[in-house]
Amino acid sequence: MKTELDTILEALSTCASVLQAALEDEGAPSFRRDDLSHHPWDGGLPGPRGWYARKAIVGLCQRITTLVQDPFERSQIDSAGFALTASLHTVTQCVPPTVAEIVLASGKNGTSLKELAERTELNETKLHYFMEKEGGFMAPTRSTRALLPESYVGDIAGLMNAGIAAASMLKETAKLPSDSRHQWLKENPEELAPFSRAMDTMEKMLDPGLVVDLPIEDFGPNITLVDIGGGVGGLTMQFLKRYPGWKAVLQDQKVVIPQAEAFWRKEAPEIVDAGRVTFLGHSFFEPFPLPPAPEDCPYVFMLKDVIHDWPDDLTTRILKVSREEQHELALKYIRTSCRLRCQDPSS
Ligand SMILES: C[S@@+](CC[C@H](N)C(=O)[O-])C[C@H]1O[C@@H](n2cnc3c(N)ncnc32)[C@H](O)[C@@H]1O
Repeated sequence: MKTELDTILEALSTCASVLQAALEDEGAPSFRRDDLSHHPWDGGLPGPRGWYARKAIVGLCQRITTLVQDPFERSQIDSAGFALTASLHTVTQCVPPTVAEIVLASGKNGTSLKELAERTELNETKLHYFMEKEGGFMAPTRSTRALLPESYVGDIAGLMNAGIAAASMLKETAKLPSDSRHQWLKENPEELAPFSRAMDTMEKMLDPGLVVDLPIEDFGPNITLVDIGGGVGGLTMQFLKRYPGWKAVLQDQKVVIPQAEAFWRKEAPEIVDAGRVTFLGHSFFEPFPLPPAPEDCPYVFMLKDVIHDWPDDLTTRILKVSREEQHELALKYIRTSCRLRCQDPSS
């Protein structure tokens, strides 16, 4: 009789074949752990077969873990998840050259833990956590690149690390009124730059398909995209580069706007100079002071990766304020990363 494990393994084998065929069709190399070059699918946009096969393989591996691992062992490992965050933060933030820089430069033979400890000023015994090769040596793998200083992992790990202290209080804070990490970020402005950098890199990595696949034909060729809580506006920038008739209003908290302006001036000066983007430092909990949109360039509101950050009562406020802005024109929302409950049109 076929067991659940057999079914998963069959699916895994099918997905592996689909993945390999998609790699070959696209002329991309097979994945190899010791291949340190940038793989075209990492942060890129494979065709749908490769995209889904890759996601399915990761999901199926997680299902195998859920199925076969001792539940107590699993809960113990999950409970220690914070250690990984703290460790990622430590190795990405240590004195330069960082752990990843040294390991990557060491080539196939790797570097000894002793040398690594000396150069990074981290204790040798604690570096064992990152050992990837036997015999006290660390050699780079294709994952090591993700720990380089310019990668988003360092920034996001820093933010998550700061969250560990807050999370440890959840038993108490769960009883308090709604809030979000954005209030904390506002009170710790030095954390804003790494947060926005992390958002932009994540966006490039996670959302390349949005620009290509989004059904935007019914918007018409000329719109003004109002990116609510847009961060530095990386996705909006991609849209404006792709669609010359589009303009944008990038809205976020006042503190974020200088960083957004600098980002656009650096990455898309032609769009800034043409006046196709304007910046609005304003809270999305208050009605936005938007001028009436020209008839031939209606507003389209975008809320991307925003409402998942807020509890239901505050999410409702954001949506209500945005809806009040719809008085003059037909508007559309594009939403991703939205909790399922929020897809109920009555919420
Ligand atoms: C998770 S980030 C998403 C950023 C961007 N939409 C993206 O997808 O990369 C949430 C954004 O909401 C912004 N935000 C938080 N509170 C806000 C407020 N009261 N008014 C406007 N923006 C706010 C944050 O500054 C941040 O840029």
